[in-house]
Amino acid sequence: MNTRVLTRKQLIKDVKTPVKIAVAKGDGIGPEIMKATLRILEVAGANIEPEFIELGEKMYLSGNSSGIDSSAWEAIRSNKIIFKAPITTPQGKGYKSLNVTLRKSLGLYANVRPVTALYPYVHTNYPDMDLVIIRENEEDLYAGIEHRQTQDVYQCLKLITRPGCERIIRYAFEYAKAYGRKKVTCMVKDNIMKLTDGLFHKVFDEIALEYPEIEKDTQIIDIGSARLAAKPEQYDVIVTANLYGDIISDIAAEIGGSVGMCGSANIGQEVAMFEAIHGSAPDIAGEGIANPSGLINAAVAMLAHIGQAEIADKVKNAWLVTLEQGYHTADIYQEEISSKKVGTQEFADKVIANLGQTPKNLNRSVLTHGNGTIQIPEYVRYQQQKELVGVDVFLDWQGDDPDELGKSLAGLDVYKMKLKMITNRGVKVYPEGLKETYCTDHWRCRFVGVDAKINRSEPKYAHIDFEQVVALLSRLNHLGYDVIKTENLYEFDGKRGFSLGQGE
Ligand code: NAI
Ligand code: MG
Repeated sequence: MNTRVLTRKQLIKDVKTPVKIAVAKGDGIGPEIMKATLRILEVAGANIEPEFIELGEKMYLSGNSSGIDSSAWEAIRSNKIIFKAPITTPQGKGYKSLNVTLRKSLGLYANVRPVTALYPYVHTNYPDMDLVIIRENEEDLYAGIEHRQTQDVYQCLKLITRPGCERIIRYAFEYAKAYGRKKVTCMVKDNIMKLTDGLFHKVFDEIALEYPEIEKDTQIIDIGSARLAAKPEQYDVIVTANLYGDIISDIAAEIGGSVGMCGSANIGQEVAMFEAIHGSAPDIAGEGIANPSGLINAAVAMLAHIGQAEIADKVKNAWLVTLEQGYHTADIYQEEISSKKVGTQEFADKVIANLGQTPKNLNRSVLTHGNGTIQIPEYVRYQQQKELVGVDVFLDWQGDDPDELGKSLAGLDVYKMKLKMITNRGVKVYPEGLKETYCTDHWRCRFVGVDAKINRSEPKYAHIDFEQVVALLSRLNHLGYDVIKTENLYEFDGKRGFSLGQGE
């Protein structure tokens, strides 16, 4: 009999119960690349137990407008890990994006997308590129709160929250620590959006202090993305808000040459979802020629996430070796570099044959820095003193002379409040506006308590009561002004919670 003596560590590992994961085979090329990937994971020794769930096209076409049914929800919520092949969203109205539904419903706040050059095996102008973009996934302009307020003006609300910033930024630093990365760069536009992006930047500075071993940097998003596109090798981990992250993660994947090869993770406090970034490629479905690399990379991230980084490295390294050997699927085949054009399953066979080997030219995968999974503490809210000090009243006003509006509103000494200024599209037009400023039909009129010392650069505002605001609105309405919206002006612990008008 062949007996094996196990060390205690091996013993614990061997008897560890497998991690259950919900697996969606997807549509189009999904089932082919999922089969190839699961075969690799099995031979590599991934300690996982797939539970197959039905998502996507079949569900949509059977009348489920969200593409997912209650049994799949249950499997996802009990297993907490979803491994998902791409799905097809049927053409036509009324079908909701399943990815958006999953992300939002399950609170998957972090989108993590590593991009590493595989030069010369996959063409790129940036052979040394090796970065990870960590994008906030739930907030920002993507809350989808939009309104048309006047005939000419439409609005989209940008929501940035402290818990949202703390979670994503802490995740970025913890990720850097867990995966041996050296630097975290924050990208914001806080020179313009001082409150929202300012908060993101401030929280970044606060949390960075807890990670002195990691280098930190903040860049303004416009020059930051330009530098990313020109010198991607200067970046390591990038953390940013939803919209910026959406844009720069596509830039990064594109210049890395590997849109078809990248995996991505969507991480929540409870649940995490792993998938390739490409779609279901219906044009080549069933032909057996699809590249399973995106899903393999998603699997690597999943294994690292569930604390099986050694297996993750084993799979990743075998995959790198396969690319070095020149076994390439049709989408990355290059006459001069490739040795053989292989199909999906043959590619997987080669990866399996290479398990245990490490690449010669490409950088070896080393995901085994940390000790297991990343935990982010729950948010703790510290109560602050909130005081009402004024109100911005937005009017739909068809006139074109700001002084006319200003003088009539300034004449109202209503309820111990006074008009402080009027802006149009954020620019001060009263008092002392410039006649060159273009004005639309959307006027923001700022009223503050009369005791306010309104001429200081950092004024202290008089506290007012909301009753005064209600009375002011009623008065304006009575006078025939079309009030379209208000924003209360608050101080929090004595600090101004609103921006000044441009030129104020
Ligand atoms: P796509 O990524 O499926 O295909 C774009 C092009 O890349 C096609 O020529 C395709 O053949 C090729 N391609 C993609 N993946 C490949 C692979 N692994 N190996 C070889 N070639 C590959 O994008 P498309 O055509 O815009 O979308 C097709 C469907 O996929 C749509 O229904 C879309 O809604 C869905 N989709 C799903 C996603 C998901 O489930 N996460 C993400 C993106 C799209
Ligand atoms: Mg996008």
